[in-house]
Formats: sequence, structure tokens, C-alpha cells
Amino acid sequence: WILMVTAQTPTNIAVIKYWGKRDESLILPINSSISVTLDPSHLCTTTTVSVSPSFQQDRMWLNGKEISLSGGRFQSCLREIRSRACDVEDEKKGIKIAKKDWENLHVHIASYNNFPTAAGLASSAAGFACLVFSLAKLMNLKEDHGQLSAIARQGSGSACRSLFGGFVKWDMGKESDGSDSKAIPLVDEKHWDELVIVIAVVSSRQKETSSTSGMRDTVVTSPLVQYRAKEVVPKRIIQMEEAISNRDFSTFAHLSCSDSNQFHAVCLDTSPPIFYMNDTSHRIISLVEKWNRSEGTPQVAYTFDAGPNAVMIARNRTVATTLLQKLLYCFPPQADADLDSYVIGDKSL
Ligand code: DP6
Repeated sequence: WILMVTAQTPTNIAVIKYWGKRDESLILPINSSISVTLDPSHLCTTTTVSVSPSFQQDRMWLNGKEISLSGGRFQSCLREIRSRACDVEDEKKGIKIAKKDWENLHVHIASYNNFPTAAGLASSAAGFACLVFSLAKLMNLKEDHGQLSAIARQGSGSACRSLFGGFVKWDMGKESDGSDSKAIPLVDEKHWDELVIVIAVVSSRQKETSSTSGMRDTVVTSPLVQYRAKEVVPKRIIQMEEAISNRDFSTFAHLSCSDSNQFHAVCLDTSPPIFYMNDTSHRIISLVEKWNRSEGTPQVAYTFDAGPNAVMIARNRTVATTLLQKLLYCFPPQADADLDSYVIGDKSL
């Protein structure tokens, strides 16, 4: 017999960034963060997990290619989930798995991203959230989404925020065992549904410095990062929660753009410096800043993660349409580009 579960998890984009760990193995951050979860029909991971007595070992395929499961992060997630597994019964198929059987059963995991892996579009966030959620369903865990988020966190910090839709806060927590470092839903996706997210894929190439090693270098070498974590972010978290609750776009845009810029400033303050944005990213920032200033009130917020791709949040659909027109005007697609998915500044997609 074989038992299967499929789940789909969208990625999330931080508007107040997580950058820096106080505990590397448990993945505990030096500051709280806030993100927006994207619509599941766009950037998401789909994962199918299966269990069968005929499986000889745990195995995983990512986008059709087998990958090693020996990494500590996969193992932490698998261990945490297995230790909480419960009895499973599928009457139709005549399958009965007792709690204690899970120790000797192996799982196969097949995961697909519908967007470039590791190009700074938070693929690890959707990936680990989906892995943890689908395994938790397969093994019939009784934990709620918040408790599952603390397990997903051990796969990749940002993954904990993808267990909920809408705006989500990852509370950094205080406990040394990480039990209170988990995601908390702030408002659901219906709360502020006029917002439109536009992503300009500036480059689909894999980023040069992974978030994990980049933030490790920052914590060790940047004098700015401690000031950011202790003095700046705690205030911004409170202001951002209020802006989201009041649907106050001006404050929201101001905080998102400032926080993205401070995150990249901290990267530049790292030794050796980390450059995630490129000239095209900088041109997009100038375009949005000029437009916002000429309107007198912000129309679009921008934020950049660990890569050059721009995530822009328009205050409504009309603004999003104008934004797309402006982008097409400033970055005309090459004659041979595929207009449905053309990449600004890099024709490799
Ligand atoms: C810039 O969650 O990918 O996207 O915990 O080491 O796996 P690890 O890092 P990761 O870092 C994400 C960093 C960021 C900001 C954010 O998502 O908050």
C-alpha cells in the first residue's frame, strides 16, 4: 500500500525584514519580522509526500531532480514531525498505521516550485512550509498552525510565516528552546484586498550569497545590525501592525521601503560587503520614489529580498496598471522576449 498527501503553500514577502540569527541551529532571529503571504495561485510550492512499507529510505525530489536529505535542516523538520506523529487509519484502503510504526517507516517527498528556485524569491519559505504542512497531515499531527510554524522555522526562518495567509508576524520570542519563536496571523487576506503585488524578475539566476551565510557574516561583522535589531525594528513592528490594521497605505509604504533599504544597508555594512541589488533594482527604486513624490502621497511600496528582484505593492488595481505601463516603458522587452514572462535585464527565462 501507499498513502499520499498533497499540499500547496504560497511564498511570503517580508515588509519588515528578518536578517540575523541569535541561534543558528534552532534558527532563532535577532528581531521580529512581518510579511505578506502571496496568493497561492501565483508563487507557490506544491509538495506530495507519501509513505509505504516498501520504501527503504527517506528520499526527496525538487522540481523532478533528486536532492540529498542529509542536511541538518531537513533532518530537524523530519525528526520534529516524526516525534509528534499519531495513529492513522484509512478505512477505504484498509491502511492502519500506529503511532509507534512511524519510527520504522520512510517517506518520499516530491516538491515543485512554480518560480525560480533560490533567485531571492523566498522559495525556501514556501518549500519548508509546504514540507512541514504536508508531512504533518500525512502523520496526522494534532499541532495547530502556530506550533507547525515553529517546526517550519527550523527548516528556514522565513518559512514559519508561510503557514498563514494575509499579513503575518514572526515573533522572535524569548525562550532559548525556541518554543515561543513562531508565526502569528495579524489579519487575513480579505482585510486589505485592494493591494496588488507586482514582481519584476530582474534576474532569474541563483543568488551568489545565500541568506544563511549572508546573515551569518552580517551578525559577525556589521556594527549596524545590532542597532537595527534593538533600536529600529521593535518600533517599526508596532508602527507596521498599526498601519496594516488601519489600512494606512502611506505609513505602510514608508515603513516597507525604509526597512528594505536598511536591510540592504546592513548587507553593505557586512565584511566583505554583500550586494543583492543591481543597477536595474536601483533604477526601479528611483522610478517608484520619483512617482510617489510627484503624487504627493505614496502609490507603490517596494521591497527587495536577498536578490535583485523587485517586489512592488500597489495601493490598488488602477495604480498597478499604471505601474506595469511605466515598467514596460522604462524596460522595453527585447524583440525576442516572451512578453508573458519577460525578465527585466536578463533574457535567460
Ligand atoms: C531577506 O529564511 O531564507 O528574505 O533562516 O537561513 O533559511 P534562513 O534564511 P531565510 O532568510 C530570509 C531573509 C529575507 C528577509 C525575510 O524574509 O524576512
